[in-house]
Formats: sequence, C-alpha cells, structure tokens
Amino acid sequence: MSSKKVIGILTWREGKRFAEPDYLRRLVKAGQELGAQIFLFSHQDVFKAERKIRGFTPKSGGGWESSWYPWPQIVIDRYRRRVPEYMKLRHSNLFKFANSPFSKKWRVTELLANDERVKRWIPETYVYTPEKLKVMLKRHPMLYVKPGNGTGGRSILKVAVRGKQYELKGRDKRYVYKNASFQRAEDVGRWVRKWVTEQRISDGNFLVQQGLDLELVSNRIADIRLLIQKDAAGEWSVTGCGVRVGEKGSSTSNLHGGGRAIPFHVFVSKRFGEEGAQQILRECHHMAHQVASVLEEKFGRMMEFGLDIGVDVDGRSWLIEVNPKPGREIFKQMKAMDLYAEAIRRPVLFAVHLIEEKTGSRIRLAAQQSQSQPKRQMG
Ligand SMILES: Nc1ncnc2c1ncn2[C@@H]1O[C@H](COP(=O)(O)OP(=O)(O)O)[C@@H](O)[C@H]1O
Ligand SMILES: [Mg+2]
Repeated sequence: MSSKKVIGILTWREGKRFAEPDYLRRLVKAGQELGAQIFLFSHQDVFKAERKIRGFTPKSGGGWESSWYPWPQIVIDRYRRRVPEYMKLRHSNLFKFANSPFSKKWRVTELLANDERVKRWIPETYVYTPEKLKVMLKRHPMLYVKPGNGTGGRSILKVAVRGKQYELKGRDKRYVYKNASFQRAEDVGRWVRKWVTEQRISDGNFLVQQGLDLELVSNRIADIRLLIQKDAAGEWSVTGCGVRVGEKGSSTSNLHGGGRAIPFHVFVSKRFGEEGAQQILRECHHMAHQVASVLEEKFGRMMEFGLDIGVDVDGRSWLIEVNPKPGREIFKQMKAMDLYAEAIRRPVLFAVHLIEEKTGSRIRLAAQQSQSQPKRQMG
C-alpha cells in the first residue's frame, strides 16, 4: 500500500455533473500537487460493507474520471445541499471530517448575539413574525428581511423609512427587482407578509434584521468578504479579503447578483483614508478570529469561514453573515491569483495536518504508554 495521504471531498453530484466544478477541479489538483491521493465523492459513492469509495478526479482534457479508492483518512465536507442522504451520511460516524456540521443562520446569529466576545458586531436580529416587524419598524430607520436559509442575495428585502414614506426594495428568487412604497405601516406589514410567503424556501423561516447603511458609494451597497482558514499548522489565519460593490440600485452586494470585486485597500482607503482603512482592516481580522473561535467552541472543529462584514457610512464594522462553506471567487475577480491559489491550497494543507496529527499522536501515545505504564495483567 502506498503511504500517500488519502483525502476525500464530499460534494453533490448527478452523473458527472458536480456542484462548483471549477473550484473542485482546482482543489483536487492542489491536493495532487501536494502529494495526496485526493478525490471527489458523493453520498451514492460510499460502499460501507466493502469499505471502498468511488471517487472522481479531473481528466486532463476536461471532464471527470472515476475509480475505486481506499477509505479516506480525512473528509472535507463541501456538500451545500441539505438533501436527506447527505444529512444521514454527515451525521454518521463513517468518516473523520475536517469540518463539523454547522447550523442555520438564525441559530448562528443567536449564538453570536449572546456571546460577550462578539455581540458588539451583531446587528439586532429576530426570526420574522408580523409583530416583530412592527416593533423593528419603530426602532430602526431601515430593516432587512431575509431568508434564514438563503444564499447569494436572493429573496432579500430592504425596508427603509424616508420622511413619511416606507420604501421597499428587494430581489426575488430569480434576482428580479421588486419595489413598493407605502405611507402606512399596516400596508408594509401586508406586503412583507406576502413576500415571506412567496419567497419561502421549503420550511425555512425569515429573519428581520436591523439595516446597516452600507451605501459607501452613491446608489450602491458595498461590503467586505473576508476568508479565514486553518493553515498547515492547524491555526486560524486570515487568507485575505475584498470589497463587493453591488449592482446599481440593488439592496445586496452579492457577486451572483451582479456585484463587482475590488481590492480592500483601494476601496476602503478612498472612502476612509489610509489610517481609517488600516484600523478597519485590524478590526475585521480581530472580528474574524473571535468569531471563528466562538463558533468552533460551539460546533466543534471547523476549517474555514467566509465572513460578510458590513462597514457602515460611519466606519463601524458589523457582521452580516458567516458562511461555513465559502466561495473564493472574490479573489479571482479581483485578479489576486496568489490569494486565490492560497485559498484553495489551505484546506488540503489542513487536511494533511489532521492526518499527520492523528497518526503522529497515536505513535506518541503508544510510546508513552509502553514507557510509563507497567503492563497490567489480564484476567
Ligand atoms: N442587515 C443588513 N444591513 C445592510 N445590508 C444587508 C443586511 N443584511 C444583508 N445585507 C446585504 O445583503 C447581502 C446578502 O445578505 P446575507 O445575509 O449575506 O445573505 P446571503 O445568504 O443571501 O448571502 C449582504 O452581503 C449585504 O450586502
Ligand atoms: Mg452572504
């Protein structure tokens, strides 16, 4: 048997169609370059009784080829759909995972809002009910109503009070813009209730959240995407960050919704000055480390987080969202190819570290036991 480290990447597939094929192709290649035996697999590729796995690797001319692989020593979970077969596998103890299962937006927000180390960065948030909306409308000049299980800026609604008028602006499941304006809070309530019903994804709930003024350029929302990952030594380390500037008139900055990526320094120093930018960057790093350790305490070992950070017009930083399986496209779009490559290598380096730690500690433990413990007699 070869002594290559065996790393599996759990992901969704249908035939040879994979979620995120471009990223996964690069991830497998990064692993191969580091000398690992690394492959993609999905829930239907696990043959428990035979203790073998059908794995997929990229073919040189494009496409994927499959082959049989030994049981992975570590599995990186990159499955992004909550299908029952995946959930079952994820909660079984068939594999050692590099990253633990994570909760939905609401539970994560609730945890963070109640932790002294991080609560100052969390906007006021509740699970949406018509009553909560009413209360929040009185308390804040702007609100966001968003799905607790959404991704990519879909189905998010912004409600702003301007003079005697309420302005509602959102994008639906297909990113189509939807607007409305009302004079009376009851009409807002009715419209939002309809929005929540129409936009609901399966049994997911909605959140109502204090709105942040992120209009750092006129008529556009800008926020920061920061990637924090475990490094080759198993320590948290910020890989990099960038600014996402949303489409004109959009209430969100997401790249999928037409946002653009700009290097942090270029954008933030233009708005807040050189010193301001340094200070904001320090705060973002500090926030990321605190958030990572709080979440890891609650959920168990994690591997990486993508943080959506809002810096409001007064320069105050807020945590908008934590993504446990973040994309890396921002670095590619910023043309920061070294950061992009590093962001892809780190999960593999961390997986290798976990394998070495596991085997290393077992050897150390055995050595300690044979030295320090007298052999007990059985029976
Ligand atoms: N409370 C808020 N205040 C201001 N902007 C927000 C707020 N919540 C979300 N946004 C905007 O909408 C985007 C998407 O929201 P997010 O909570 O990250 O959901 P998703 O899972 O769809 O990415 C954010 O990146 C930000 O631009
Ligand atoms: Mg987001």
